[in-house]
Amino acid sequence: MRIIIINGPNLNLLGKRENNIYGDESFVEFFTRLQINNETVSLSQFQSNIEGEIMDKLQEVGYSYDGIILNAAAYTHTSIGIGDTVKAISTPVVEVHISNTFSREEFRHNSFISPNAKGVILGFGLQSYEWALKSFLRSE
Ligand code: DQA
Repeated sequence: MRIIIINGPNLNLLGKRENNIYGDESFVEFFTRLQINNETVSLSQFQSNIEGEIMDKLQEVGYSYDGIILNAAAYTHTSIGIGDTVKAISTPVVEVHISNTFSREEFRHNSFISPNAKGVILGFGLQSYEWALKSFLRSE
């Protein structure tokens, strides 16, 4: 089973960015743990601060992988392009957010990803990614 986590802008700063919202752990630390705990899954990750690179990666994996866990970060709320790519590809996408975007500023309440996502998991810190991964393993 091939699953990829795709992270959008500023998520490379986890562990040193607004720790009260996003926690103290870096994504690399978290991802290493996730891989160790899920050895049967071929789990990879990709992060970019550039909108087009996220679309390119979604297109690259979106017809062959078994699942995509996508945290498009700020692009969630602005990118019709990434929303269109999620619609275009055949691999199911689970949308993830670390914070509960609905308890934050109103501009974070809209998502261009959600209408075409298989599901949405948000507000559980980095554990949101773990629940997303579990959702793919359960539907195997
Ligand atoms: C985020 C929420 C977004 O609103 C924000 O722009 C992010 C991170 C989250 O994981 O909580 O960068 O996607």
